[in-house]
Amino acid sequence: MPQIAPAGGLAEPAASALPPVLRFLDVSKVYCSAEQAVAAVSGVTVSVARGEFVALVGRSGSGKSSFLNLAGAVDIPTSGTVLVNGIQTTSLSDEALTRIRREHVGFVFQFFHLFPTLSVLENIEIPLQLAGERRPRPRAEETLELVDLADLGGRFPHQLSGGQMQRVAIARAMVARPSLLLADEPTGNLDSESADTVLRVFRLVNAELQTTIIMATHSLEAAAVTDRVLTLKDGRLVPNE
Ligand SMILES: Nc1ncnc2c1ncn2[C@@H]1O[C@H](COP(=O)(O)OP(=O)(O)OP(=O)(O)O)[C@@H](O)[C@H]1O
Ligand SMILES: [Mg+2]
Repeated sequence: MPQIAPAGGLAEPAASALPPVLRFLDVSKVYCSAEQAVAAVSGVTVSVARGEFVALVGRSGSGKSSFLNLAGAVDIPTSGTVLVNGIQTTSLSDEALTRIRREHVGFVFQFFHLFPTLSVLENIEIPLQLAGERRPRPRAEETLELVDLADLGGRFPHQLSGGQMQRVAIARAMVARPSLLLADEPTGNLDSESADTVLRVFRLVNAELQTTIIMATHSLEAAAVTDRVLTLKDGRLVPNE
């Protein structure tokens, strides 16, 4: 159906008029070394809408991290098309890919990747500083509050538990309010109680900020809190049973 502009000119597009946050159209990624070529992702077509919370599951080596790297414009496909908020990542310059990552995507990893010599708040401020924000502190504090760690802003990473470190990493990933949050086994290094807390924070971010989340995981408990499960096998999406 054609979109009809409201009387009085063009307003903000309705959410339904926005493109999916992520689209893969027949995407493949082949890694070539001297000895062999490995198809890490093969012919994947999928769309993830605004506000969805998706789990990405599959055995070790099935292509989950490769999928996330393509989704987050860390890598570009060998063939096919990846669109992040309608922007095609293939054939962009490194600079343009960096801008897409900075403006549209947040990343969370299994081993947190916090900077040990920076305080919690300084870690969270990094994306805002990279974006040229001159007063990052209020937004960093607000985001630390969102992950329920408001009192720990002055601590250093080694003074936190694993679960707290991961919540700081989530705050850092979310501080610039990206529309897409990519998490690669975010509970893989946590005990079950900390993992539950981290999953609750993902749900909260998803609900409060309407952030689209794609989470690669080996954990059935983690996959169970999401809205949809995508299963990869040898780089291909397989239908759910
Ligand atoms: N940079 C690379 N160069 C060569 N091969 C790679 C590279 N990255 C991944 N691969 C290969 O691609 C396949 C998919 O790897 P990937 O890391 O995406 O799997 P995964 O599902 O994330 O596995 P895990 O659960 O162990 O993290 C594997 O066979 C892997 O060895
Ligand atoms: Mg992986």
